[in-house]
Amino acid sequence: MSQPKVVEFQDDTMLVRKTFAQFPSGVSVLAIDKDGDKHALVASSFMVGVSLEPCLVAVAVQKSSETWDEIKDAASIGVSIFGKGQGDLTRKLAGKDRAARFADVAVDVDHSGAVFIEGAALWLETKIHSVSEAGDHWMALLEVTRMGVGENEPLIWHGAKFRELVAEDSIDVQ
Ligand SMILES: Cc1cc2nc3c(=O)[nH]c(=O)nc-3n(C[C@H](O)[C@H](O)[C@H](O)COP(=O)(O)O)c2cc1C
Repeated sequence: MSQPKVVEFQDDTMLVRKTFAQFPSGVSVLAIDKDGDKHALVASSFMVGVSLEPCLVAVAVQKSSETWDEIKDAASIGVSIFGKGQGDLTRKLAGKDRAARFADVAVDVDHSGAVFIEGAALWLETKIHSVSEAGDHWMALLEVTRMGVGENEPLIWHGAKFRELVAEDSIDVQ
């Protein structure tokens, strides 16, 4: 077994990014339709289970995000958790050209303005519960108002790569 190697990281943002990339996560996209224009914010910092009553999830958003300025006041925000095979779609929805993000993307738009991505593993309709400062990010708590589970397995984000889930058949959790 390899020994833990602890390193200094002060002011080395790249090292922090590389180290944090060892933590696997799913990938979410927060999406809304505002006056006919769709906005998408892809985030791997998404986390479920912050609270059950009320039902709260969390996401950390860079303060520099232009999309956050568009969606932070929305009455309803759709959250889709990308599914297996949706890596290219994830990159597209996080693309630099914000106006081109939804070109040829299959979505469902709810009357509330929440936008959901077809083929996702999980959908949550949410509204903003609270937003607090967290260094160079905003920490947003979202209250879940409706939810749906897709048939697709979730996409995994790890080491700056998209991956698929593989079951560890030898481990049983009781
Ligand atoms: C896999 C992946 C994960 C990302 N995770 C986050 C995140 O957790 N928080 C965040 O603010 N931006 C995240 N981003 C970057 C945003 O999706 C987006 O590109 C960035 O906020 C700039 O676009 P904007 O100005 O439209 O927000 C991620 C991008 C990718 C491709």
